[in-house]
Amino acid sequence: MYRTHTCGELRASHAGQTITLSGWVHRRRDHGGVAFFDLRDRSGIVQVTINPDLPKESLDLVANIRMEWVLQIEGIVQLRPDGMKNPKMATGEIEIIAREVKILNPAKTLPFLVSTDTDLADENTRLKYRYLDLRRERMTHNMVLRHKVIKFMRDYLDEKGFIEIETPIMFKATPEGARDYLVPSRVYPGQFYALPQSPQQLKQLLMVAGMDKYFQIARCFRDEDLRGDRQPEFTQLDLEMSFVHRDDVLALVEDLFTKMLPAVTPNKKLLSSPWPKFSYHEVLEKYGSDKPDLRFGMELFELNDIFAKSEFRVFQSTLEAGGVIKCIIAPKSADMSRKEVDALTEVAKTFGAKGMPTLGITAEGVKGSASKFVTPEEVEALKSKTGAKEGDLIVFATDERKVVNKVLGGLRLWFRDKLDLADKDMMAFAWVVDFPFFAYNEESKAWESEHHPFTMPKMEDLDKFDTDPGAVASDAYDMVCNGYETASGSIRIHRRDIQMKMFQMLGLSDEEIQAKFGHMLEAFEYGAPPHGGMAPGIDRLVMLLADEPNIREVIAFPKNQAGRDVMADAPSGVEPKQLKELHIKFE
Ligand code: AMO
Repeated sequence: MYRTHTCGELRASHAGQTITLSGWVHRRRDHGGVAFFDLRDRSGIVQVTINPDLPKESLDLVANIRMEWVLQIEGIVQLRPDGMKNPKMATGEIEIIAREVKILNPAKTLPFLVSTDTDLADENTRLKYRYLDLRRERMTHNMVLRHKVIKFMRDYLDEKGFIEIETPIMFKATPEGARDYLVPSRVYPGQFYALPQSPQQLKQLLMVAGMDKYFQIARCFRDEDLRGDRQPEFTQLDLEMSFVHRDDVLALVEDLFTKMLPAVTPNKKLLSSPWPKFSYHEVLEKYGSDKPDLRFGMELFELNDIFAKSEFRVFQSTLEAGGVIKCIIAPKSADMSRKEVDALTEVAKTFGAKGMPTLGITAEGVKGSASKFVTPEEVEALKSKTGAKEGDLIVFATDERKVVNKVLGGLRLWFRDKLDLADKDMMAFAWVVDFPFFAYNEESKAWESEHHPFTMPKMEDLDKFDTDPGAVASDAYDMVCNGYETASGSIRIHRRDIQMKMFQMLGLSDEEIQAKFGHMLEAFEYGAPPHGGMAPGIDRLVMLLADEPNIREVIAFPKNQAGRDVMADAPSGVEPKQLKELHIKFE
């Protein structure tokens, strides 16, 4: 038997028991001729004291033991003397007095320390030795948290009558707006499976199959540009329900996460219950983003009325061109230096601003680049509309509405980080609903689906399909949290005629529609129930719950920022024989 207990479970109540432990040497100390080890396994750490009265062979053996060696230790649990107790350690009231030490496996010197988070190795080194990186307490915590989140989801949904069904990984293109990963067929030369960007079509077909309430912890694959919150393969809690309206889906998901929070992360607070719900247009106008961070205020204010007769050229020309003047109020920033404002203007330009007028409210009056051009009446009107007070900096953006919202939305987050405005223990969940159905792609000069092509338009907007596609609203919704899109979903099209119209609007020919989506259209002819669902991104949610800056920290074996697995070195070349079997030649 390797062990009778795990390292982290031992408490004062075990005192006097003879036990056996197995684990890694977390730290070693030698003190007045006595050796101490911290022995670690996944459950935690316990102090082992090597009894100096052990036989000489044993003490010689112990003398060689280094960090991260794997040991088996038999000993007696003993209460630590008063004054030696360590209240910071779960096992801090006791220590193990070792009677026998067995080396199960020595270890080379590690490329980085796993016993501390200071002096973290660079990320590629961590990923190359991910199996060592995961030994670190923080990473172990993240893996355990992820497990708890997924277990909570499974238990909750099971109780609500959902069943978990696996869907294929080798399938056909399921468009979610990214490139597909393709798998060449050996048996059918020149033909490919596509890895699912999500199980979207399959879960809808499960509804046609009468499965009613489905979920899956689903792996999705998307070949797209990587970011801190994007991986080429990631995991969704994919769910779908039959005979539901939007608010049925929202209520279920809101209840799931509201109950999950105290169960898995009792340190986290919910912004509000019920969660706030905004229309897509409302969040853009108020926060300059369709995934607003609601942990702090700093809303956007529209000022066209106040500056209707402004003498300020920038404001005048904006209004003449049919644009908007909006602002945010940055607290306690009136004294930002000229240099800081210039640097911030450069930030604003990265969001599309041409300039960034400011007005600082100080005891001596107003300062900043707009101060020469605003009248005292305008300043008063500004204060009363926005609540700006002494010490605040008013930051303006002027342009067409889309640009202004983007600029101020971006600056709002910049001030959040600079002024530390967001409570890191707050989970500010909210719903964004009533998305537009189509998005116009300026590059390809074509309409695309804003969500995905299986989303139901608002029925009352059906006749605008041909006349005014941009004005069609959809029955799609997003769940957002702390500035991230954490889930999205929709009520789906379940009628063949509407689905056909949608594909045609996207510019697909009848042949293409048949080849790509014939199976969906056919299924809709066999009694497809009204249905809808959504898919929370598990990596993003665990990242937020774990206070991590990116999703790689909560994925056991992620790709690096350049999309590579640096541990196994993938992607990598393959044997010529394999290529031949797959009928593949390189240009
Ligand atoms: P969508 O494409 O919006 O919708 O994805 C749903 C959620 O999945 C997460 N997510 C990602 N997480 C990590 N890396 C990525 N590359 C990545 N892409 C998306 C996000 C996102 O909100 N089939 C629809 C859902 C539905 O309609 O039911 C879908 O996949 O948290």
